[in-house]
Amino acid sequence: MEKTITVLPGDGIGPEVTEAAVKVLQTIAKRFNHTFNLHYELIGGAAIDDCENPLPEETIKQCSQSDAILLGAVGGPKWDQNPSHLRPEKGLLAIRKHFGLYANIRPVKAIPALLDSSPLKKEVAENVDLVIVRELTGGLYFSEPREKSHDHALDTLAYSRTEIERIVDTAFQIARSRRGKLASVDKANVLDTSKLWREIVEEKRQNYPDVELEHMLVDSTAMKMITQPSAFDVIVTENMFGDILSDEASVITGSLGMLPSASTREDGFGLYEPVHGSAPDIAGQNKANPAATILSAAMMLREAFQMETEAAAVEEAVFNVLNDGNFTGDLQVEGKRVLSTTEWTAKVLEEL
Ligand code: NAI
Ligand code: MG
Repeated sequence: MEKTITVLPGDGIGPEVTEAAVKVLQTIAKRFNHTFNLHYELIGGAAIDDCENPLPEETIKQCSQSDAILLGAVGGPKWDQNPSHLRPEKGLLAIRKHFGLYANIRPVKAIPALLDSSPLKKEVAENVDLVIVRELTGGLYFSEPREKSHDHALDTLAYSRTEIERIVDTAFQIARSRRGKLASVDKANVLDTSKLWREIVEEKRQNYPDVELEHMLVDSTAMKMITQPSAFDVIVTENMFGDILSDEASVITGSLGMLPSASTREDGFGLYEPVHGSAPDIAGQNKANPAATILSAAMMLREAFQMETEAAAVEEAVFNVLNDGNFTGDLQVEGKRVLSTTEWTAKVLEEL
């Protein structure tokens, strides 16, 4: 197959971790006889430095001619004092909005070799294998009106039927492709948007009789995420609840440097990126853990290109390298062998 991928390295460790993922994609292409056409474009701080625009027209144009987008991370102290239209994260929000990427998908899977670095007890963290499906373009972060004065502030939480229906469908489909369990998380005892959410989930469940559905309140979900995280398969929720729960879930595996994500829409087109930021404290030192970006590339192979075998090969290579005792410096494992970004990536390429 021939696919076109736009690579947006971004800032900080972004260029280092995307380079590692690109090498993995090139190796996959060779091994499975695919052609991946890679185009590099600017986003975030790098784009601001180049043309005073965190998401240049040229980047949008190249992305819209691509089958998928691979992103590193954006931001850093250099741009922290910039006015809001010249902030790196504006580029990220703008690209998600431009392409209507409403479904944020974050898998969290316990990795046996890393259980010691989880803040949870080993017996609680092991067997965790869940996916959070977060609505990304609606809700409290985007609804109008909003206003703020010295003595008063207002935010609005609004959701339309269409916005809820499409994310709920996405989640049911993911649940169907996994262990067939879906937890729909809301605050239906208090919020009207949650009451509408629950009604729509009830309507939609008729189409997915093979999926076991449970409605949960967000507060009790937060508790269960710590006490019994392995009980979850797929979780679907609105934007703000998903923001909080996905960050909570991200600590279970013990390293931010391991977690991939995708932001997609119904046709599968999407942005694939690590959960972590640009890590300015270790940028340019060949220390970053490239696993999250490599695993994001695996998600791209699976979700955007329907290349299941290729995706599984990448994931297996990453886990084998860890199981053999090879780690980057961010992973707190006793008796570990600490490798640089490029050394660790070379191990993955060898596996492949
Ligand atoms: P961060 O995720 O960049 O870093 C948090 C801590 O984790 C740091 O100590 C860092 O060294 C470490 N870390 C993160 N990823 C790592 C990796 N792959 N390997 C090894 N260590 C890793 O979050 P922080 O420090 O809050 O933000 C730094 C910058 O990144 C800020 O400008 C922020 O706005 C931006 N950011 C960007 C995101 C994105 O592009 N999606 C997401 C989150 C933050
Ligand atoms: Mg967050």
